[in-house]
Amino acid sequence: MTIPASLVPLPPRSRSIAPGGRLLIVSNRLPMTMRVHRGTVEVQRSSGGLATGLHGVHSDTGGIWIGWPGLSTEQAGALWPEMQQSLSAAGAAGIPLSRHELDGFYSRFSNGALWPVLHDRVDHPAPDDDAWALYRAVNERYAEAVIERLRPGDRIWVHDYQLMLVPRLVRERCPHARIGFFLHTPFPDPLSFATLLHAGELLDGLLGADVIGFHTCAYARRFLQAVSDQLHRPIRGDDVLVGSRRIRVGAFPMGIDVASFDACAAEPEVRVEVQRLRGTRGVARMLGVDRLDYTKGISERLLAFERLLTRSPEWRGRVQLSQLAVPSREDVRAYRSLREHVEQVVNRINGAFARPGWTPVEYRYGSVDMTALVALYRAADVMLVTPIRDGMNLVAKEFVASRSDCRGALVLGERAGAAEELRSSLLVDPTDTDALVRSYHTALEMTTAEQRTRMRGLRHIVAGNDVFRWAAGFLETLDSRTARRRALALRLG
Ligand code: ADP
Ligand code: F6P
Repeated sequence: MTIPASLVPLPPRSRSIAPGGRLLIVSNRLPMTMRVHRGTVEVQRSSGGLATGLHGVHSDTGGIWIGWPGLSTEQAGALWPEMQQSLSAAGAAGIPLSRHELDGFYSRFSNGALWPVLHDRVDHPAPDDDAWALYRAVNERYAEAVIERLRPGDRIWVHDYQLMLVPRLVRERCPHARIGFFLHTPFPDPLSFATLLHAGELLDGLLGADVIGFHTCAYARRFLQAVSDQLHRPIRGDDVLVGSRRIRVGAFPMGIDVASFDACAAEPEVRVEVQRLRGTRGVARMLGVDRLDYTKGISERLLAFERLLTRSPEWRGRVQLSQLAVPSREDVRAYRSLREHVEQVVNRINGAFARPGWTPVEYRYGSVDMTALVALYRAADVMLVTPIRDGMNLVAKEFVASRSDCRGALVLGERAGAAEELRSSLLVDPTDTDALVRSYHTALEMTTAEQRTRMRGLRHIVAGNDVFRWAAGFLETLDSRTARRRALALRLG
């Protein structure tokens, strides 16, 4: 089995992220997803902002990425040791998880209960005790894997809501460890968070870290409020006090690997594909690219497109919406229902409006490689990124980074973390169908001069905070926060 070259860490660049120790990245999903097909292992790039965004950071720091390779121990069977070897050669360590563990930890607790709460949905199913027990047990497994590999001077960087107990579990066994935690989702209203059974234990789990990072100041503030309300911990400025430890809570808006998108956009294959995609003259292209998740506002976006065609017949035959949806969390019922719903709406729109030579919605359920993705971004006249709620949303930034031609309009949901930075996009309430339709009109009719002005502003922002700067900022904060303890730990050896 070979891991694709694009997933193997490159030698560190001359501009290293933050000198000062190996980096152990800990996240539920590794940047490579494996599956067994006809007795052999196939490896693909993982989708999702965490995996795609952090991949460059991992390459740059030459440490170990600890995570799950995307299949159960039952699916891996006797091939597990061989997989683990390949992962190890690619700078990764795979956590084996059985079907039963994945069901409780990943599907029922992390994505069935915690994910909706983090996105302010209160209609979530309450997790059962078994799901919670498995969440804890799997977090312990991750903590164990970290502790086994930890060397003096290492930095540990734990990511996302699936692993909220890991900082505390590592701290209990390694009091001097340098531990950072970053949440890739929003942090909700403290009252919504409190509705979650075990909310206190989750908050307490995070307080094992030295630095806790969020995408925006609003999320950081809500977290501090939740810690104060539920755990009654003293807060001093941006710090939480736990015994003799001061835990820094801050906003670190995540960026993307801007240079890679810029370089890919200049590739000849991309140019050829863009020509092909733009095919029919006179048809404006709108584009959506998302994991198929109910937080991404895909149904709402389609309903607004249907309304545009219903109320403004002049657009029929002159605009096409391409929606690319990457499969996600298919074992969770809400995701299966969403898939059915989206497919029904697409069929309804196409059934009502299609005519020979023109299909209003081109819907693709699957993942594409970077060249195809950048070509889609480059060929779009209007990019629709309209999540109902989203921690950051890196697709919006990828679109901007791919548009070195300074063309195209970005319609952006105002409740995505990215909306705090990308102010010169067309900001919209993603749940208001009429507002969405108005923003479609504005985007479709935008002059090239206005596109250029807005895109220049957006590119300036995206280039100014790429994923390397983001990681460096977070790790420098971690280093400065733990400098004294580190000196002591190194002396103790
Ligand atoms: P999330 O982490 O919630 O999935 P983000 O927008 O932050 O949301 O990140 C999504 C990532 O997944 C981006 O890097 C994007 O390029 C990638 N992605 C989304 N849809 C697809 C797809 N159909 N094919 C390939 N990559 C995709
Ligand atoms: O952004 C939230 C997140 O859970 C990330 O951790 C991950 O990049 C993405 O969604 C994909 O989720 P999953 O790992 O469940 O496929």
